[in-house]
Formats: sequence, C-alpha cells, structure tokens
Amino acid sequence: MEKLEIVNEIREQGFIVLTNFLSGEYVDKINDRLEKYISERHDGVAMEDDGETLRALHGLHLYDGFFLSLCANEKLLSLAESYIGEQCYVHQFKINVKKALKGQAWPWHQDFVFWQKGDGIERPQLLNIGIMLHDVSMLHGPLCFIPGSHKLGDLCEKMVEHTAWESDISSQLSYQVNGSTIETLLYEKDVKFITGSAGDLILFDPLLVHSSSGNLSPKDRPLLLITYNAVSNAPTISPGNSRPEFLCASDNSPLTATCEGF
Ligand code: SIN
Ligand code: MN
Repeated sequence: MEKLEIVNEIREQGFIVLTNFLSGEYVDKINDRLEKYISERHDGVAMEDDGETLRALHGLHLYDGFFLSLCANEKLLSLAESYIGEQCYVHQFKINVKKALKGQAWPWHQDFVFWQKGDGIERPQLLNIGIMLHDVSMLHGPLCFIPGSHKLGDLCEKMVEHTAWESDISSQLSYQVNGSTIETLLYEKDVKFITGSAGDLILFDPLLVHSSSGNLSPKDRPLLLITYNAVSNAPTISPGNSRPEFLCASDNSPLTATCEGF
C-alpha cells in the first residue's frame, strides 16, 4: 500500500492496520529483548490494581538502544512523518503487557488529552504506531476502536482525581469519555476490534476513541506503542514541572532514520 493511501485512510477512519509488517524473526528479537529488559528493572513500570501484576513499561527507548533504534527505523519513522507532516521525535514509548488472565481493561478514552493537559502539547499532531508482539484474538482483550471518532474533537473529561503518574495509565484512567457521550457514540457507530497476528502494525490518531477489555486468555497480550510527535509541537511545560521523562520526553530533537532491523 502506498504511503499516501495509508495516510488518507488514517485521516478518514482514524486508524489503519498493516498486517505482517514485521517478520516473525524480528518480533522474536523484540520479545527476547523485552524479557531481558523486564529482568533489569528500569524506571517507568506500572502495575495492575493488585499491585503485583505487571501492566506496562514506559520509556524503554531511553534506557535501551535497541528500542531507540526501533523508533528510528526508516519504515516506521517515514510513516509517522508522512502523517504528521514534518520531522518527529518520540514523545512516549510503552509496552502494555496485558498479562494472561490478570491484565486489566482500558476504559474508553482518547490519548491526546493526556499529552495536552499533562505535558502542554498544543495540537493533536501526533501518531501512535503499535506493534502486536503476540497473536491477538477476542479473548486477549484486543484494542477496540470507534472508526471516525477522531473527527469529533476532544470528548474526554476528568473522571478520577489522582496525583501519581500511574493514574494516567491505570485501569481507572484520569481522563475518559464520559458515560452518556460514549453511550450515544456506541449507539450511533460501529466498533472495530483489532485482532491479528504478531508483527501486525496498528497506526492510530491521538483523538481516536478507543478501549480494551481485560485479558481472558492464558497468554499475555504485549502491545508495543510508539507515540511520535511533530518537533514543532513539543511540550510547553518545562521539564522541571512536567511528568517523568519516561512519560514526557524532554529531548524533542528530530529522529534520524536508520535502515537496520526488519
Ligand atoms: C492504550 O489505550 O493506550 C492502550 C490500550 C491497550 O493496550 O489495550
Ligand atoms: Mn490510549
């Protein structure tokens, strides 16, 4: 598929899935690296509500050059730059592991509000690129999108008052689409469950309304997510007052593409 077609589809629907984008070999490499990374115990780790099940890891590209070079991979970076329309840096990098049987849900929300309110990012000129690290069926708690909802603007409200950074990624997200708004949307629009195979790529707009349910399967559902932002749209909240580096990048210099990898 041509880059322009991909960009147009995201503009129209708010997302696109590119199947078999990464080779099985390269996905194995990422999974091996992830296992090692978890054992090294870096900052940026969030737990599920039980306090002992790993929910998500953040900022891996800050601590491990392998993940940084993945962000700079020419195939990914050029998609991000085409959609965003200029040079980009990585604002966030995370892996939501959604552990077997214990991984919890993500309520209906849009992502942009967290970067706008939390980091002072002014425009929704960002793109999420997700990589499925395992096969994902309905039982695994796949991402669920409302196609076209990115055109409706900011629909989120502060739902839960928290102080810790973990609240921006817990199952009780601080900003969510409120009950009556989401009810109306769900009556009016279809939803799309993003099931697929390891190595599939998911691109989605920061205003797309999405959620996912808990993992009911006996296997983990690791999803790697890179959020690219336009260099001209960098955070306006100074690093001293902002969220931790692993949630809000302070280095906003443009990435240079590399060709190694998949
Ligand atoms: C997200 O909303 O950013 C991720 C949801 C998921 O991992 O299912
Ligand atoms: Mn989200």
